Amino acid sequence: MATPQTGIFALGDAAHIYLEFSVPPGTDAERFVREVVSIHEPRTTVGGVNIVIGFRPELWRSVAPNDTPEKLTGFNEPLAGSAGYSMPATQADLWLWIAGASYDVVFDLARDAVAKLAPYAKIERELDGWSYRHSRDLTGFEDGTENPALMIAPSVATIPDGEPGAAGTVLLYQQWQHQTSEWEALPDDAQERVMGRTKADSTEFAEDVMPADSHVSRTTVDEDGEERKIFRRNTAYGNVTTHGTVFVGFSADQQRLDRMLRRMAGAEDGLRDALTRYTTPLTGAYYFVPSLQALQRFANVE
Ligand code: HEM
Repeated sequence: MATPQTGIFALGDAAHIYLEFSVPPGTDAERFVREVVSIHEPRTTVGGVNIVIGFRPELWRSVAPNDTPEKLTGFNEPLAGSAGYSMPATQADLWLWIAGASYDVVFDLARDAVAKLAPYAKIERELDGWSYRHSRDLTGFEDGTENPALMIAPSVATIPDGEPGAAGTVLLYQQWQHQTSEWEALPDDAQERVMGRTKADSTEFAEDVMPADSHVSRTTVDEDGEERKIFRRNTAYGNVTTHGTVFVGFSADQQRLDRMLRRMAGAEDGLRDALTRYTTPLTGAYYFVPSLQALQRFANVE
């Protein structure tokens, strides 16, 4: 039985660095994957660091065709929503998420990784994430309330045994920049209607008062009469003037992420998520995060 990359479920890290790299056309993909897999976290349990590795789906498929979900694709085109709204596509080839208890250890490992990959890949984007008031988003709302508990999160977020890409997961990665002045000009009860939850204690609105365009309504997705969940590991990013949410969402299939995004953009039924009037996606990419065993096949492990 394959095992998911452990950092996906390692809650509690305060410091995060996210790196996106692209490789030039004609790159030997297998050689590149081998280089990436040889980046190691420091072998210590105290002050340890977690690394999670994701590849552009098409790149990973080229090196491991039997270990890639069948229909998985990158975020290769902008997502067109209602009334001219759209979400950008900024797909790159490699995503690294380095997380730890403090910024210094994360910073050092990120620098090592960048130096190691410099001959093969160019850094497209980097973002520092941090936790805000334990588990709040910079909107002031608790983020992650509806996340599945850790006991069941792997079954929600990772591909079942026996399927191509087993124990791997599909990541949607987006940088959202908040329009903080507009958001903070709203009184708390109006903000709560945008989210569909209360601000102080994150209680979900009852069905009869839940606005159809609230964030909770738009991201609640049913298929075959069953609610399809994802596992979110969002963090805050930015400085005092410019900041927002790093959206890091893992799912066992791409379809539910795509449907959530389409419903947020108003692409499914014309109704756009009210939250998208106060925060703007600056980037958008899908990555496949293979199982540990799938990665190990490319490692020159001792
Ligand atoms: C700036 C961007 C975003 C912010 C600030 C944000 C914030 C929140 C907050 C505060 C909640 C309610 C508490 C909770 O259950 O976590 C929530 C719920 C949720 N969000 Fe987001 N979110 C953002 C983007 C997204 C995106 C892009 C997706 C999916 C593609 C998404 C999917 C979800 C889901 C599935 C829920 C749980 C809904 C439920 O079952 O009640 N969010 N989000």
